[in-house]
Amino acid sequence: MLLKDKIALVTGGANGIGRAVCELFNHQGARVIVCDFDAAAGGQLADDLSARGTEAFFLHADLSRLDGVEGVAQQACKRFGRLDVLVNNAGICNTVSIDEMTMEQWDRTYGINIKALFLLSRAVVHLMSAQGNGKIINLGSMAGRNGGVSVGADYSSSKAAVINLTRTFAGYAAKYGVQVNSVVPGVIQTRMSQDFDLSRYNIPLGRMGTPEDVAGAILFLASEFSDYMTGSCVDVNGGFMMS
Ligand SMILES: NC(=O)c1ccc[n+]([C@@H]2O[C@H](COP(=O)([O-])OP(=O)(O)OC[C@H]3O[C@@H](n4cnc5c(N)ncnc54)[C@H](O)[C@@H]3O)[C@@H](O)[C@H]2O)c1
Repeated sequence: MLLKDKIALVTGGANGIGRAVCELFNHQGARVIVCDFDAAAGGQLADDLSARGTEAFFLHADLSRLDGVEGVAQQACKRFGRLDVLVNNAGICNTVSIDEMTMEQWDRTYGINIKALFLLSRAVVHLMSAQGNGKIINLGSMAGRNGGVSVGADYSSSKAAVINLTRTFAGYAAKYGVQVNSVVPGVIQTRMSQDFDLSRYNIPLGRMGTPEDVAGAILFLASEFSDYMTGSCVDVNGGFMMS
């Protein structure tokens, strides 16, 4: 078990990639805090994971409400007494064109994709610094590297900011023993990608990714096998974009 006795907080853990991360972490011995605003799916998942053996907990939060984000870190840490891993996975996406983009849409995307990630990471680094260790994994996107194929400019630029902020936080948090890395998925089969025009993707490995494909890379970054890595951005895209 790669995460035996570890405590992990996964935002957006109720569905899609976050859900696959919660299931894999639980299977690897971690106690998982599933954080999401989808109370039905998140609560059910936490119950199912607990029934399989390792205790899990659902933390209801709307991370677009920025004044509550630091409280999420406190509540998560209080639940099991410490926090070893944070996965900043919650995110929103759209396919609005540049011509039709409104600033309300732009601010909504930046609120959850980058501001909430910043606030939660800062609060969690402070908590982890008392332990002298911890791992933070951020969800970037291939759109943050190439400008995007099907997605709005707000989304692709917010994900470029996630990749950059990963490095900024990695430099800042290293002195506290906290590692910060990101996973950069290509096109992954979830609710988020259901409106993407798949004919525009020519993927060398011949298929879309699954949430489990991404969860495997996140598990590696959460485990001791990545102990000498920080500030890295790990591509999981079937070869669609090679950097
Ligand atoms: N699916 C893809 O093709 C793809 C590609 C690259 C990157 N990503 C990134 O991976 C991450 C997960 O995406 P996914 O495809 O699993 O999406 P998804 O829509 O299937 O799941 C997102 C989860 O985040 C939660 N969430 C959204 N807004 C929230 C908020 N304000 N507060 C709390 N929870 C909130 C949702 O309830 C949901 O459970 C995102 O950051 C996304 O940008 C996805």
